[in-house]
Amino acid sequence: MKALILSGGHGTRLRPLTYSQQKQLIPVANKPVLFYAIEDVIEAGIHEIGIIVGPNAEQVKKVVMSREWDANIEFIYQGEPKGLAHAILVARDFLGDEDFVMYLGDNILREGIVRHKKYFEENDFDASILLQEVPNPQQFGVAELSEDGKTIKRLIEKPKVPPSNLALVGIYFFKPVIHEAVRNIKPSWRNELEITDAIQWLIDHGYKVGWTKVTGWWKDTGKPEDILDANRLILDDIETDIKVNTKARIHGRVVIDEGTEIDENTVIKGPVVIGKNCRIKNAYIGPYTSIGDNVVIENTEIEDSIILEGSEIRNAGRIVESLIGRGVKIINGTAHPLGRKLVIGDNSRLIL
Ligand code: G1P
Repeated sequence: MKALILSGGHGTRLRPLTYSQQKQLIPVANKPVLFYAIEDVIEAGIHEIGIIVGPNAEQVKKVVMSREWDANIEFIYQGEPKGLAHAILVARDFLGDEDFVMYLGDNILREGIVRHKKYFEENDFDASILLQEVPNPQQFGVAELSEDGKTIKRLIEKPKVPPSNLALVGIYFFKPVIHEAVRNIKPSWRNELEITDAIQWLIDHGYKVGWTKVTGWWKDTGKPEDILDANRLILDDIETDIKVNTKARIHGRVVIDEGTEIDENTVIKGPVVIGKNCRIKNAYIGPYTSIGDNVVIENTEIEDSIILEGSEIRNAGRIVESLIGRGVKIINGTAHPLGRKLVIGDNSRLIL
């Protein structure tokens, strides 16, 4: 089996972070979201991975190749993103005539895919999808099950009136017949070749589509709130690993990487992850916070937030539930005229 991991698209709902960064590279607990997908696929014994890349292809390549993987990774250029089924069309040569798993690179699944892959392999399905009950099915692809509950009868993308609360998780197992399906569907109202339409084509042509239920948590990290939520869920599982000497007061599970200096006036309450070479002084770092490499924090309280690499936060009061990009400066200055002096990118959000 091969894997096709999607890391293209414009990530409009995550602007301004996605003006300079591919959305699947945004770190959750200091690890790019995309890496969780790659790890799941390798854990399931798949060592031939194609990554679909789009507008920031070179950036994705660089970040992925900065680490050693127990797999051959090939990058496949999508050009203009025209939908999830379009990604399969583009990857035709890479996929050949093998079964494959398609994994949306902005999805994180706590339980991984081992059990789901096994189910697909042990049953005679032409495709198998993962489903989870959600309170807001209108925002996903939604499945209607057959009478005996074993297969899928119908799939609808973002329905106004959902037939069930079973949302499609962004992970799909396919036999090569899916190539015929993606060649035969038409673009949807949003002008995309939808994967749900391709799977529906299989059902309409007598092919069998199975499903498995996700039992742990699953996150589609499409919006800032989802990224913060995924961060909380991942941090809930970390183990303490402090690689530096510090006199800071530390409670709970905390990871601190090499080269980071934290003074004795700082209090850290885990779960918290702090990257390399940070300078933290007279600060409070509260639960569910991830701080990237080379971050400076002084005289500030931060809780339940993600701070990306190279940012500087001084005398900034109390920051909560925030997603702060790379190289950002938040400083409470004393020079006249006093007042808030802002240089903010397009589509930023400030709640003061
Ligand atoms: C896509 C799929 C949808 C699925 C979702 C899961 O939606 O089209 O069926 O439920 O991923 O993450 P999108 O994120 O493109 O809106």
